[in-house]
Amino acid sequence: MKRKTNESSAIEDNIRHCYSTWGESYYRDYYESATAYPPVHTAIVRKRLEADKVRTLLDAGCGPASMLRDLDGLGIDRYGFDLTPEMVAEAKRVMESQGVAGGHIWQGSVLERTSFSPPTGASAFDAAICFGVLPHVPSSADGQVLSNLASSVREGGLVMVEARNQLFALFTLNRYSHAFFLESLVDLPALKRRASPEEAVRLDEAASFIGRQFRMDLPPVRQGKGSEPGYDEVLSRTHNPFELRLAAERAGLRDVSVLFYHYHCMPPMVESILPDFFRRASLAMEDPADWRGHFMASAFILAGYRAER
Ligand SMILES: C[S@@+](CC[C@H](N)C(=O)[O-])C[C@H]1O[C@@H](n2cnc3c(N)ncnc32)[C@H](O)[C@@H]1O
Repeated sequence: MKRKTNESSAIEDNIRHCYSTWGESYYRDYYESATAYPPVHTAIVRKRLEADKVRTLLDAGCGPASMLRDLDGLGIDRYGFDLTPEMVAEAKRVMESQGVAGGHIWQGSVLERTSFSPPTGASAFDAAICFGVLPHVPSSADGQVLSNLASSVREGGLVMVEARNQLFALFTLNRYSHAFFLESLVDLPALKRRASPEEAVRLDEAASFIGRQFRMDLPPVRQGKGSEPGYDEVLSRTHNPFELRLAAERAGLRDVSVLFYHYHCMPPMVESILPDFFRRASLAMEDPADWRGHFMASAFILAGYRAER
Protein backbone atom coordinates (compact mmCIF):
# COMPACT_ATOMS: atom_id res chain seq x y z
CA MET A 1 0.00 0.00 0.00
CA LYS A 2 1.30 3.48 -0.91
CA ARG A 3 1.96 5.77 2.06
CA LYS A 4 0.87 9.38 2.11
CA THR A 5 3.63 11.83 1.21
CA ASN A 6 4.32 15.00 3.21
CA GLU A 7 2.78 16.91 0.28
CA SER A 8 -0.48 14.92 0.55
CA SER A 9 -0.61 15.37 4.34
CA ALA A 10 -0.12 19.14 4.06
CA ILE A 11 -2.84 19.34 1.40
CA GLU A 12 -5.23 17.33 3.59
CA ASP A 13 -4.58 19.63 6.58
CA ASN A 14 -5.52 22.62 4.44
CA ILE A 15 -8.64 20.89 3.08
CA ARG A 16 -9.79 19.97 6.59
CA HIS A 17 -9.47 23.63 7.56
CA CYS A 18 -11.29 24.79 4.44
CA TYR A 19 -14.28 22.48 5.03
CA SER A 20 -14.32 22.70 8.86
CA THR A 21 -16.74 25.67 8.81
CA TRP A 22 -19.10 24.10 6.25
CA GLY A 23 -20.42 21.03 8.08
CA GLU A 24 -23.82 22.45 8.88
CA SER A 25 -24.27 24.92 6.00
CA TYR A 26 -22.90 22.98 3.01
CA TYR A 27 -26.11 21.19 2.09
CA ARG A 28 -28.16 24.37 2.47
CA ASP A 29 -25.67 26.42 0.40
CA TYR A 30 -25.13 23.97 -2.46
CA TYR A 31 -28.08 21.58 -2.59
CA GLU A 32 -31.04 23.66 -1.39
CA SER A 33 -30.19 27.26 -2.22
CA ALA A 34 -32.18 28.95 -4.98
CA THR A 35 -29.06 30.84 -6.10
CA ALA A 36 -26.80 27.79 -6.45
CA TYR A 37 -27.06 25.67 -9.61
CA PRO A 38 -29.41 22.76 -8.80
CA PRO A 39 -27.67 19.46 -7.92
CA VAL A 40 -28.41 17.84 -11.29
CA HIS A 41 -25.70 15.23 -10.63
CA THR A 42 -27.82 13.53 -7.98
CA ALA A 43 -30.43 12.62 -10.60
CA ILE A 44 -27.71 11.15 -12.86
CA VAL A 45 -26.42 9.01 -9.99
CA ARG A 46 -29.88 7.99 -8.80
CA LYS A 47 -30.85 6.85 -12.30
CA ARG A 48 -27.74 4.69 -12.66
CA LEU A 49 -28.04 3.18 -9.16
CA GLU A 50 -31.64 2.22 -9.90
CA ALA A 51 -30.81 0.82 -13.35
CA ASP A 52 -28.00 -1.29 -11.87
CA LYS A 53 -30.17 -2.45 -8.93
CA VAL A 54 -27.51 -1.35 -6.46
CA ARG A 55 -28.16 -2.57 -2.89
CA THR A 56 -25.02 -1.36 -1.06
CA LEU A 57 -23.35 2.00 -1.66
CA LEU A 58 -20.21 3.73 -0.42
CA ASP A 59 -19.80 7.51 -0.74
CA ALA A 60 -16.08 8.34 -0.51
CA GLY A 61 -15.71 11.96 0.63
CA CYS A 62 -19.41 12.13 1.50
CA GLY A 63 -19.27 15.61 3.06
CA PRO A 64 -22.37 16.20 5.22
CA ALA A 65 -24.06 13.21 3.51
CA SER A 66 -25.30 15.64 0.86
CA MET A 67 -25.73 12.95 -1.80
CA LEU A 68 -26.36 10.09 0.61
CA ARG A 69 -29.35 11.77 2.28
CA ASP A 70 -30.93 12.44 -1.14
CA LEU A 71 -30.54 8.76 -2.07
CA ASP A 72 -32.97 7.76 0.67
CA GLY A 73 -35.98 5.65 -0.32
CA LEU A 74 -34.20 3.47 -2.92
CA GLY A 75 -33.74 0.52 -0.56
CA ILE A 76 -29.95 0.99 -0.65
CA ASP A 77 -27.77 0.30 2.40
CA ARG A 78 -25.73 3.53 2.52
CA TYR A 79 -22.19 4.07 3.86
CA GLY A 80 -19.80 7.02 3.70
CA PHE A 81 -16.59 8.53 4.98
CA ASP A 82 -14.96 11.96 4.84
CA LEU A 83 -11.68 13.61 5.74
CA THR A 84 -13.17 16.53 7.72
CA PRO A 85 -14.44 15.75 11.26
CA GLU A 86 -17.14 18.46 11.09
CA MET A 87 -18.49 16.90 7.88
CA VAL A 88 -18.47 13.42 9.45
CA ALA A 89 -20.39 14.70 12.51
CA GLU A 90 -23.05 16.31 10.33
CA ALA A 91 -23.29 13.27 8.02
CA LYS A 92 -23.81 11.00 11.06
CA ARG A 93 -26.50 13.26 12.47
CA VAL A 94 -28.40 13.41 9.17
CA MET A 95 -28.10 9.71 8.37
CA GLU A 96 -29.13 8.68 11.88
CA SER A 97 -32.25 10.81 11.45
CA GLN A 98 -32.99 8.63 8.41
CA GLY A 99 -32.51 5.46 10.47
CA VAL A 100 -28.98 4.64 9.26
CA ALA A 101 -26.62 3.25 11.94
CA GLY A 102 -23.90 5.69 13.11
CA GLY A 103 -21.23 3.08 12.23
CA HIS A 104 -22.07 3.55 8.53
CA ILE A 105 -20.29 6.94 8.58
CA TRP A 106 -16.61 7.30 9.55
CA GLN A 107 -13.59 9.52 9.11
CA GLY A 108 -11.06 8.60 6.44
CA SER A 109 -9.11 9.67 3.37
CA VAL A 110 -9.57 8.58 -0.23
CA LEU A 111 -5.79 8.22 -0.38
CA GLU A 112 -5.87 5.31 2.10
CA ARG A 113 -7.20 1.93 0.97
CA THR A 114 -8.19 1.07 4.56
CA SER A 115 -10.60 4.04 4.69
CA PHE A 116 -12.81 2.32 2.11
CA SER A 117 -13.99 -0.33 4.60
CA PRO A 118 -16.35 0.47 7.47
CA PRO A 119 -14.77 0.22 10.94
CA THR A 120 -17.18 -2.69 11.56
CA GLY A 121 -15.44 -4.83 8.93
CA ALA A 122 -14.42 -5.23 5.30
CA SER A 123 -17.08 -4.98 2.64
CA ALA A 124 -17.31 -5.15 -1.15
CA PHE A 125 -19.99 -2.66 -2.14
CA ASP A 126 -22.27 -2.87 -5.18
CA ALA A 127 -21.30 0.72 -5.98
CA ALA A 128 -18.99 3.53 -4.86
CA ILE A 129 -19.40 7.23 -5.63
CA CYS A 130 -16.91 10.04 -5.11
CA PHE A 131 -18.04 13.62 -5.75
CA GLY A 132 -16.21 16.90 -5.20
CA VAL A 133 -13.11 15.17 -3.85
CA LEU A 134 -10.76 14.60 -6.80
CA PRO A 135 -10.11 18.36 -7.19
CA HIS A 136 -8.49 18.27 -3.73
CA VAL A 137 -6.15 15.35 -4.44
CA PRO A 138 -2.58 15.90 -5.72
CA SER A 139 -2.14 14.76 -9.33
CA SER A 140 0.33 12.08 -8.24
CA ALA A 141 -2.49 10.44 -6.22
CA ASP A 142 -5.24 10.30 -8.89
CA GLY A 143 -4.37 6.70 -9.84
CA GLN A 144 -4.30 5.61 -6.19
CA VAL A 145 -7.76 7.11 -5.54
CA LEU A 146 -9.20 5.47 -8.67
CA SER A 147 -7.79 2.06 -7.77
CA ASN A 148 -9.01 2.43 -4.16
CA LEU A 149 -12.48 3.12 -5.53
CA ALA A 150 -12.28 0.17 -7.94
CA SER A 151 -11.17 -2.24 -5.23
CA SER A 152 -13.90 -1.08 -2.81
CA VAL A 153 -16.64 -2.60 -5.01
CA ARG A 154 -17.31 -6.25 -5.87
CA GLU A 155 -16.28 -7.54 -9.32
CA GLY A 156 -18.67 -5.95 -11.83
CA GLY A 157 -19.54 -3.27 -9.23
CA LEU A 158 -20.17 0.33 -10.30
CA VAL A 159 -17.84 3.30 -9.67
CA MET A 160 -18.93 6.90 -10.33
CA VAL A 161 -16.30 9.57 -9.74
CA GLU A 162 -16.72 13.28 -10.42
CA ALA A 163 -14.16 15.86 -11.55
CA ARG A 164 -14.08 19.50 -12.61
CA ASN A 165 -13.80 19.66 -16.39
CA GLN A 166 -10.48 21.17 -17.49
CA LEU A 167 -11.72 21.54 -21.10
CA PHE A 168 -14.43 23.97 -19.92
CA ALA A 169 -11.53 26.47 -19.94
CA LEU A 170 -11.85 26.60 -23.74
CA PHE A 171 -15.28 28.22 -23.24
CA THR A 172 -14.78 30.52 -20.25
CA LEU A 173 -12.37 33.08 -21.78
CA ASN A 174 -10.91 33.89 -18.34
CA ARG A 175 -7.77 33.03 -16.37
CA TYR A 176 -8.58 29.31 -16.60
CA SER A 177 -8.45 29.68 -20.40
CA HIS A 178 -5.15 31.54 -20.13
CA ALA A 179 -3.66 28.74 -18.06
CA PHE A 180 -5.04 26.05 -20.39
CA PHE A 181 -3.71 27.75 -23.54
CA LEU A 182 -0.29 28.61 -22.17
CA GLU A 183 0.34 25.70 -19.79
CA SER A 184 -1.49 22.72 -21.30
CA LEU A 185 -1.83 23.36 -25.04
CA VAL A 186 1.04 25.62 -26.13
CA ASP A 187 4.43 24.31 -25.01
CA LEU A 188 6.33 27.60 -25.10
CA PRO A 189 9.70 26.27 -23.89
CA ALA A 190 9.58 23.49 -26.53
CA LEU A 191 8.63 25.98 -29.27
CA LYS A 192 11.50 28.21 -28.21
CA ARG A 193 13.96 25.36 -28.51
CA ARG A 194 12.98 25.06 -32.19
CA ALA A 195 13.18 28.80 -32.77
CA SER A 196 16.06 31.08 -33.75
CA PRO A 197 16.93 33.80 -31.14
CA GLU A 198 14.88 36.39 -33.08
CA GLU A 199 11.96 33.98 -33.39
CA ALA A 200 12.14 33.27 -29.63
CA VAL A 201 11.60 36.99 -28.95
CA ARG A 202 8.61 36.93 -31.33
CA LEU A 203 7.27 33.86 -29.55
CA ASP A 204 7.24 35.76 -26.25
CA GLU A 205 5.36 38.58 -27.97
CA ALA A 206 2.87 36.07 -29.40
CA ALA A 207 2.36 34.45 -25.99
CA SER A 208 1.65 37.77 -24.31
CA PHE A 209 -0.74 38.66 -27.16
CA ILE A 210 -2.63 35.40 -26.48
CA GLY A 211 -2.57 36.19 -22.75
CA ARG A 212 -4.27 39.54 -23.36
CA GLN A 213 -7.31 37.87 -24.97
CA PHE A 214 -8.60 36.63 -21.60
CA ARG A 215 -10.28 38.25 -18.58
CA MET A 216 -7.61 37.52 -15.98
CA ASP A 217 -9.73 39.05 -13.18
CA LEU A 218 -12.39 36.35 -13.65
CA PRO A 219 -13.73 34.27 -12.03
CA PRO A 220 -13.56 35.99 -8.62
CA VAL A 221 -11.50 34.02 -6.10
CA ARG A 222 -13.78 32.21 -3.61
CA GLN A 223 -12.67 33.03 -0.09
CA GLY A 224 -13.23 31.03 3.09
CA LYS A 225 -15.35 31.72 6.14
CA GLY A 226 -13.57 33.55 8.96
CA SER A 227 -9.86 32.82 8.94
CA GLU A 228 -10.20 29.48 7.08
CA PRO A 229 -8.94 29.16 3.48
CA GLY A 230 -11.57 29.27 0.70
CA TYR A 231 -12.22 26.78 -2.12
CA ASP A 232 -9.84 28.57 -4.53
CA GLU A 233 -7.23 29.00 -1.82
CA VAL A 234 -6.73 25.26 -1.33
CA LEU A 235 -5.80 22.70 -4.00
CA SER A 236 -8.87 22.54 -6.30
CA ARG A 237 -7.70 21.00 -9.58
CA THR A 238 -9.54 20.41 -12.82
CA HIS A 239 -9.17 17.17 -14.82
CA ASN A 240 -9.01 16.38 -18.50
CA PRO A 241 -11.81 13.85 -19.21
CA PHE A 242 -9.73 12.06 -21.89
CA GLU A 243 -6.81 11.55 -19.52
CA LEU A 244 -8.90 10.66 -16.48
CA ARG A 245 -10.81 8.06 -18.45
CA LEU A 246 -7.52 6.36 -19.39
CA ALA A 247 -6.39 6.52 -15.75
CA ALA A 248 -9.68 4.89 -14.69
CA GLU A 249 -9.11 2.05 -17.15
CA ARG A 250 -5.55 1.60 -15.85
CA ALA A 251 -6.99 1.47 -12.33
CA GLY A 252 -9.13 -1.57 -13.25
CA LEU A 253 -12.42 -0.13 -14.50
CA ARG A 254 -14.06 -1.24 -17.77
CA ASP A 255 -16.86 0.20 -19.95
CA VAL A 256 -16.00 3.68 -18.68
CA SER A 257 -18.32 6.44 -19.90
CA VAL A 258 -17.96 10.20 -19.44
CA LEU A 259 -21.15 11.94 -18.31
CA PHE A 260 -21.19 15.74 -18.43
CA TYR A 261 -23.24 18.05 -16.22
CA HIS A 262 -23.58 21.66 -15.06
CA TYR A 263 -23.89 23.13 -18.53
CA HIS A 264 -23.44 26.83 -19.32
CA CYS A 265 -25.49 28.10 -22.26
CA MET A 266 -22.90 30.88 -22.73
CA PRO A 267 -19.56 31.68 -21.05
CA PRO A 268 -20.24 32.31 -17.32
CA MET A 269 -18.90 35.89 -17.48
CA VAL A 270 -22.14 36.99 -19.24
CA GLU A 271 -24.50 35.27 -16.80
CA SER A 272 -25.13 38.49 -14.84
CA ILE A 273 -26.53 40.18 -18.01
CA LEU A 274 -29.56 37.83 -18.06
CA PRO A 275 -29.34 35.59 -15.02
CA ASP A 276 -32.79 33.95 -15.07
CA PHE A 277 -32.63 33.14 -18.75
CA PHE A 278 -29.05 31.91 -18.38
CA ARG A 279 -30.09 29.46 -15.64
CA ARG A 280 -33.14 28.22 -17.56
CA ALA A 281 -31.31 27.75 -20.83
CA SER A 282 -28.38 26.04 -19.12
CA LEU A 283 -30.66 23.59 -17.31
CA ALA A 284 -32.42 22.87 -20.59
CA MET A 285 -29.05 21.78 -22.03
CA GLU A 286 -28.39 19.15 -19.35
CA ASP A 287 -27.66 15.96 -21.25
CA PRO A 288 -24.78 13.82 -19.95
CA ALA A 289 -24.06 12.45 -23.44
CA ASP A 290 -24.02 15.72 -25.45
CA TRP A 291 -20.58 16.22 -27.08
CA ARG A 292 -20.81 19.95 -26.27
CA GLY A 293 -20.45 18.94 -22.64
CA HIS A 294 -16.71 18.57 -23.31
CA PHE A 295 -16.57 22.39 -23.45
CA MET A 296 -19.81 23.81 -22.03
CA ALA A 297 -20.16 21.67 -18.88
CA SER A 298 -18.01 22.49 -15.86
CA ALA A 299 -18.12 18.98 -14.39
CA PHE A 300 -18.14 15.37 -15.51
CA ILE A 301 -18.63 11.94 -14.00
CA LEU A 302 -16.66 8.87 -15.00
CA ALA A 303 -18.88 5.82 -14.64
CA GLY A 304 -17.33 2.37 -15.00
CA TYR A 305 -17.40 -1.18 -13.67
CA ARG A 306 -14.75 -3.11 -11.79
CA ALA A 307 -13.17 -5.51 -14.25
CA GLU A 308 -13.04 -9.21 -13.37
CA ARG A 309 -9.60 -10.33 -12.25
C1 LIG B 1 -17.03 19.67 -2.34
S1 LIG B 1 -17.26 18.68 -0.91
C2 LIG B 1 -18.28 17.40 -1.58
C3 LIG B 1 -19.09 16.66 -0.58
C4 LIG B 1 -20.02 15.60 -1.15
N1 LIG B 1 -19.30 14.51 -1.76
C5 LIG B 1 -20.94 16.21 -2.19
O1 LIG B 1 -20.79 15.90 -3.39
O2 LIG B 1 -21.78 17.01 -1.81
C6 LIG B 1 -15.70 17.91 -0.80
C7 LIG B 1 -15.57 16.98 0.38
O3 LIG B 1 -14.43 16.16 0.15
C8 LIG B 1 -13.79 15.95 1.37
N2 LIG B 1 -12.40 15.55 1.10
C9 LIG B 1 -11.41 16.30 0.56
N3 LIG B 1 -10.28 15.58 0.45
C10 LIG B 1 -10.57 14.34 0.92
C11 LIG B 1 -9.83 13.15 1.09
N4 LIG B 1 -8.53 13.08 0.77
N5 LIG B 1 -10.45 12.05 1.58
C12 LIG B 1 -11.76 12.10 1.93
N6 LIG B 1 -12.51 13.21 1.82
C13 LIG B 1 -11.93 14.32 1.32
C14 LIG B 1 -13.94 17.26 2.11
O4 LIG B 1 -13.77 17.12 3.49
C15 LIG B 1 -15.36 17.66 1.72
O5 LIG B 1 -16.30 17.19 2.65
